[in-house]
Amino acid sequence: MYKSIIRPLLFKLQPETIHHIVVKMLKIGFAIPGMKCLIHSIFTVNDSRLEKEVCGIKFKNPVGIAAGFDKEAAFYNELSNLGFGYIEVGTVTPEGQAGNPKPRSFRIKKDKGLINRMGFNNRGLNFAVENLKKRKTHAVIGGNIGKNTNTPNENALQDYEKCFNGLYDYVDYFVVNVSCPNITNLRELQDQDKLMSILSRLKELRSQKEKHKPIFLKVSPDLNQGQLDEVIQIIDSTKIDGVVATNTTVSRSNLNTDIQTIEAIGNGGMSGKPIKDRATEVIRYLSEKSNKSFAIIGVGGIFTPEDAIEKLEAGADIIQVYTGFIYEGPMIAKKINKRILKEIKSGNKKLL
Ligand code: FNR
Repeated sequence: MYKSIIRPLLFKLQPETIHHIVVKMLKIGFAIPGMKCLIHSIFTVNDSRLEKEVCGIKFKNPVGIAAGFDKEAAFYNELSNLGFGYIEVGTVTPEGQAGNPKPRSFRIKKDKGLINRMGFNNRGLNFAVENLKKRKTHAVIGGNIGKNTNTPNENALQDYEKCFNGLYDYVDYFVVNVSCPNITNLRELQDQDKLMSILSRLKELRSQKEKHKPIFLKVSPDLNQGQLDEVIQIIDSTKIDGVVATNTTVSRSNLNTDIQTIEAIGNGGMSGKPIKDRATEVIRYLSEKSNKSFAIIGVGGIFTPEDAIEKLEAGADIIQVYTGFIYEGPMIAKKINKRILKEIKSGNKKLL
């Protein structure tokens, strides 16, 4: 029903407009007495065999919502009832910022993809913290952190520190986002020295905290082999907990959408089916080359249970969806979890 009736209606509007409408509908729907339990029971697969412990955190199931969907932690409580084991909120920046001019998110339907140049639009750290204080869900919550667009890279460390300290008591794990293509020069922070100083400082801050919260680095699918080797070295020397692989790509290769449409859309990070294979490749490379020495959250083009299994088999410990959620609809987590459970029951023990 989602793909034949609901999606064609939703896709008539701009992606960002739809996003706001869906959020409002979720908020209104969940305010109706009894609705939360009903939705939860329809969308959730409850089975202890789906549980997975990663870096000391117990995930109820391995399917999460990727960063960017709930940028300011405004509706993670509602999302958690749609069958997801975890929600990564953010990217949160210290100060609120409007992001890039609209329109800034585009569907490329022929390729089952999206191109976005949102630019870290969010109402800032304090707003996200206030929302996280209203946590009602048992789902794991990750905090994806970034720098404000007008903070020069030389001062980026301070922005990451502020977000890390500010969110520390309210999230279960952290993701350092230096791989978003929509913030000018942000990806330069992926350079070894700059990254080392950010990650080492966050680790130092963490050592002063009572509770241990894992730190992940979100990587771009556009890194070449040498750069991926550097990522492995950085994780090895900073001893952070793992990576989220991958963010969106600036590449536009092998698309079915005509070149004029792509050019008219302009800059932005591409997600969805077009990045599925590259994201899997990056996961496999990081997993094999590091001898599985750190945790991997796999994301990029997961639409079907088969896509999810591909990521897990390539070396991901758990997975996330964003574009697949838009194209496949709200049953995506349930479908993937049911299939994973089936695999586990039939003896595929290596999957989780
Ligand atoms: C994103 N993504 C993203 N990632 C991130 O670390 N911080 C962010 O704020 C955002 N924002 C964002 C907005 C939009 C509209 C999209 C489509 C994506 C990237 C996202 O988390 C994920 O890494 C990629 O989209 C790849 O996964 P999918 O979409 O192919 O499942």
